[in-house]
Formats: sequence, structure tokens, C-alpha cells
Amino acid sequence: MIRLVLAALLLFIGHAAQAQVVYSAATGATARSPDGKIIVTMRLDGEGRPEYSILRGGHTVIDWSRMGFILADAPKLERNFALERVEEKAIDETWEQPWGERRFIRNHCTEQRVSIREKIGQRRAVTVVFRVFDDGVGFRYEFPEQAALPQVNIVDELTEFAVAESATAWWIPGGEWNRYEYLYNKTPLAEVGQAHTPLTIRTASGLHIAFHEAALVDYSAMWLRRVSGQRLKALLSPSSSGPKVSRKAPFATPWRTLQIADSAPGLYMSDLILSLNEPNKLGDVSWVKPFKYVGIWWGMHLGTETWSSGPKHGATTAETKRYIDFAAANGFRGVLVEGWNKGWDGDWFASGKDFSFTEAYPDFDIVALAAYAKKKGVRLVGHHETAGNIAVYEKQLGPALDLYAKLGIDAVKTGYVADAGGVQALGEDGRIHFEWHDGQVQSRHHLRVVEEAAKRHISINAHEPIKDTGLRRTYPNWVAREGARGMEYNAWGDPPNPPEHEVNLVFTRMLSGPMDYTPGVLSLTGAAGRRIQSTVARQLALYVVLYSPIQMAADLPENYAKHQKPFQFIKDVPVDWSETRVLNGEVGDYATIVRKDRNSDDWYLGAITDEVPRTLQAHLSFLDEGKKYYATMYRDGKNAGFEGDGQSLEIETRPVSRYDTLQLKLAPGGGQAIRISTNLGSRGPRSSPKPKPKKPPPEFDVE
Ligand code: NOJ
Ligand code: CA
Repeated sequence: MIRLVLAALLLFIGHAAQAQVVYSAATGATARSPDGKIIVTMRLDGEGRPEYSILRGGHTVIDWSRMGFILADAPKLERNFALERVEEKAIDETWEQPWGERRFIRNHCTEQRVSIREKIGQRRAVTVVFRVFDDGVGFRYEFPEQAALPQVNIVDELTEFAVAESATAWWIPGGEWNRYEYLYNKTPLAEVGQAHTPLTIRTASGLHIAFHEAALVDYSAMWLRRVSGQRLKALLSPSSSGPKVSRKAPFATPWRTLQIADSAPGLYMSDLILSLNEPNKLGDVSWVKPFKYVGIWWGMHLGTETWSSGPKHGATTAETKRYIDFAAANGFRGVLVEGWNKGWDGDWFASGKDFSFTEAYPDFDIVALAAYAKKKGVRLVGHHETAGNIAVYEKQLGPALDLYAKLGIDAVKTGYVADAGGVQALGEDGRIHFEWHDGQVQSRHHLRVVEEAAKRHISINAHEPIKDTGLRRTYPNWVAREGARGMEYNAWGDPPNPPEHEVNLVFTRMLSGPMDYTPGVLSLTGAAGRRIQSTVARQLALYVVLYSPIQMAADLPENYAKHQKPFQFIKDVPVDWSETRVLNGEVGDYATIVRKDRNSDDWYLGAITDEVPRTLQAHLSFLDEGKKYYATMYRDGKNAGFEGDGQSLEIETRPVSRYDTLQLKLAPGGGQAIRISTNLGSRGPRSSPKPKPKKPPPEFDVE
């Protein structure tokens, strides 16, 4: 139900007295979250400039912050406005995810639409739509159809976020050459430069806020640049064509989002980004399957195999059969094969001109392999590395996806390995233009691929992607993406991922959506024998902590053969959940997450820490009353640690109930993974000999 609010105010502003009224604070349009705790106010300042503020529990969270646009071919859209109309409605609906961290999501918020129009000049109109949730705020601009502004060419967006209370920020640089693949900075907010989102902050009083966006469709991604003090401003990713965004009205911008919570776990539990996205546009998506996979991949990152043809070529028929057999024997649905197609010889990086997406190398019999996989109950996972050359890729997209569809390949990993600003796209002028991975052109490209794939019932997992903004709700076949430093950095990265990195991801990158991190390197060994800064127990925990509906077991089959016991957890862990809870966590320090299997009564727990050893408590009160469970715990053993003995692992199975509290001992850079099953006789390992009872080592602090 739509209702008009502040009727008296509207009477006021509908007429000639606007100027007077909009100058007074009373003209602010105010919306409250359903629980009344968060209050968003939008008003026009003395010059008719729109601005907004956010209060929570009576305290200012976001001080007056500007809104508006700079346009390429028309005067700025940012002042001389008068308020025209305010409409408000309550939204309370529960929707079901086809797959995800939880099955049901409640979209519960207050929507307020504030329509403003210029008082002079062209009298252009814009509507700002706010959605105020108990756990944060989203707002976006709608450009209605209007004669004065049929085509909107945006040079930049003026949206600001003036953080009121002093804060610490976790962030990666925006607009740098390596896209999103940076280690996180932890600095005072007042020292942030230019950052990607999600950008997470913790204020001096302990409030947690994550800035991001939702539904980034046909628009350029928002970076945040600090303009002064703690005032951040939207900065749109560039475009080769001048304006960063060109759209015909009517259209709406992506939602600018602030998740606001008392704790880091509270941030993670917020679903507002998903709820701000449009519902599923694809209809029946039962063909989108969450799955685990192995693949011809880690060998290339180790340098023992190559993508290119030659004596070390990884994607051979024989090698792929070996992986298919391994997948079939261990219950993995997918086998990814990289380097199967022509074009990898020579300098493919940032070029991509030679890639064929329909022609296999002669030593890779794709037709026979797809048939062999099918016979074994396994599917090949396709791979389209474009090196950022979307001109070459888009030309072949239809036939490339047709080929996969014909062969029963229903998931494709795409890749855009090129420096930021190095995406090569065909312009309307018939020439190649260099674009950004997160600019408008690339946002269109990704959706084009996802839509074409959906027509053929194929799912997409994009690497070097545009950031996730919850579009999986609208396009559930966009199952995962990379978009941060993943496991590959542990093979060759300089530096490799320190323990803190994965903990940082939980309350930053992971707030945006699933990541194809590719965990499970149980050998803990990167290229040239380099030690991965992790423990075996932690590798297992990552399957629960870093959510994705597709999870790779990234290590080589021969390495899993050497680590059968921990490998059992990778075989057992599901990838689709009916519930998710964060039991504890601090940004950049530690996190414990539990998830309930979508297809059974079993729960799984993952806990990870940074380089600091800790003992975390896990209250099992999420378990059902009266049910008997068995917990199989994979925990860091004696002397375990990212610098100590990474292989040191204790496995123990014992009965538990919802009244138990587990003490999770995590070694430096370590972790713990637990399968909590109602079924002792299941696939999980039987109880291994109990470790002798001993006192906690002194380096473990008890939380
Ligand atoms: C980068 C991707 O992240 C990685 O997984 C892939 O193996 C290479 N590109 C080659 O496509
Ligand atoms: Ca990558």
C-alpha cells in the first residue's frame, strides 16, 4: 500500500513557497526501519541541493551527505531542486533462494520514494528511492522518462557518505591495475585513499558498517574516494567513451548500500543486498546445480603443467580421464579443464586475440571426454579464458556455448586476465576500445554472457570479474566469481596470502556474494615447494567459511591420495545450505560460521583465525532439541601453525547436543572444521584414536 506521508508538508511544498520550505529542516523526508532504530532523512539544503543523513539508535551514523550527478552534455543535476512528492510503503515478504547460504530470506523494510524537480532551467526530475531495513539502508536514483533528459550521460555521481564517528577501515585500492586482487589495508578511515567496495568500517563505539552496492546493471561500478576527513564520495569506474555511464531514461542506478550492525557477524548475516535485487528472471532454474569439482588447474599454477600446447600440456585426453576417474571415485560432480582450447600458445595474457572457444587442441578429445564423463556420472566444467578480449569472445559466444550445451557441459568458468583498463571491447564505431573490468561496458558484457548461458541451461563462474552485487537473485545461473586474491596467490603470489587475508575476506569481499576461492590444497605446497601459510584443518574450514555454491578441491589427485583422512571432510561437506549463522568473528581477526545442509539435518562448522592462536567457543544451541548428533572435528594438532607443522591434525568424533559448547583451539594461521551429523554410520570418518587429554598450551588465549 502506498501512502503519502507528511501531508501537511506536501501541501507546503507543492506550491510557490517551495524555496522557503526546502530551506527549513522541517522539510526533511524521514523514513524509519521496521524496528524504528534506523532513521534516514533526505532534505534539500539552502541551494536546493539534495542531501541525506542516517541515524541509528538516536546517534548520527552518516552526517549530511550530498547527492546528485555531473552530466557530460547538460548542466549538473545537483542543485536548485524542490521536493515534489514523498511516498512511503512497507515491504515485508519472504522469498526463497534456489540455492544459497540460507533457503528463505525476509525482505523487510520501509521504502520511501522522494521525488524532486528543478525549480529553474530545464526542470528536470529525479526520484531517490530509499529502503530502510533493520540492518541497513539502500538507496538509488531513478531517472524518469522526460523530454528535458531523454539520454543521461553521467560523468560522475556526487553521492557522498560522511561517516560521523571516527572509524577503522578495511579496504583494497580501487582503480589500480590488479583489479580486486589486493591484500586488505587496515587503516583509520581518515587515511583511506580510493577504495573498492565492500569497504568495511568499525567505529570507535563498535558499530560496523559495510558500504557496497546492489544490482549493478548497465552501469559503472562505484569506487569510494575519501574527499576529506571521513567523507567518502562515489567515484564511478571509467569508460573509454567519456561519460562513465550512458543510459536512456527511464532507468535506475544501482542501489548504494550500507549494512549496519553492532558486530562483524551482524554484517555477515544481513541479506539486504540480495533483497534489493530483482527477483529471479529465469523462471525454473532447477537446472542450476550447486556442485563440487576438481580440475586440471593447480598443476599450471605450480608450473608443472602448461595451458599451452607442448610436452607439459595439462589438458590432454589421458590426464582428463585421470581426473574424471578421480572425480567419479570421490563423489565430485565436476571436472574443470583449463588450456583445452586453441589460443594459449604465445603471449595470450591481455591479448586473447588467438583464442578459439570451439576448437580443442588435438591432444584433447572433447567429444570423447564428455561422453566418458557422462558414463562415469561426472560433467566436464567448461573454461573460457578471454584475457579480457571480449571482442573476440562475444563474436564466438553463441557457438561456444552451443558446443558446451551439446556436450552436456552445464557450467563454465570464464576469465578476464588483463590489467584493469585492459578489457578490449568492440565499440559502436567498429573499433577496439579499452575498458575497465568494472565499467559499464563490462557490466553489460557479463550479463550478456549470463543470459546467453541461461538460454542453454549453463551456469557461469567468472574470474577477474566485475564485483558481485547480488545479481545471483535475478540470474541464479551466475553461481560464483572470483574478484579477490584467491588460492592461486599461494602458488605464485608475491607475497602469498597471509593468514589474515582469508579472515579479512569474510567481512569484506564475502559480504558481496559467493567466491570461487578454490580451497583444499592439503599438500600446503605452492610453486617450487613454497609453504602455504595455512594448516590442513584450516583448508577444510574454508569450505564452510568462504561460501560458494560451487567449491573446488583444488589440489592434485596424487596429493589427496596422501591425505585421505582430511580429504574425507572435503568429500562430505555440502555446498548448498538451508541456514547460516555466524557464531563469532571480528573483522580481520577470526570467524566461526555454521551452516545447515540443505539436503539433510547435518550442520557444518568452519572457524579460522589470523596469525594469532585462539580458543573460540561454539555454543551448539542451533542444533535441534532432542536430536542426537555426532561431531567429527578436524582440528589443528600439536605444534600446528602457518609457520609450524601445517599437517598436524587431530580428528575426533563424539556425540553432541544443543546443550554443548565446544572449545575450538585454533593454531596460528589455523582453523577447525566440524561435521555435525545425525548419522554416525554415514560417509564421515569413524572416530580416530582420541588424543591424550592435555592442558591447553599457554599460547592459546581463551575468549
Ligand atoms: C586466472 C584465474 O583466476 C585462474 O583460476 C585461471 O587458472 C587463470 N586465470 C587462467 O585462466
Ligand atoms: Ca584470478
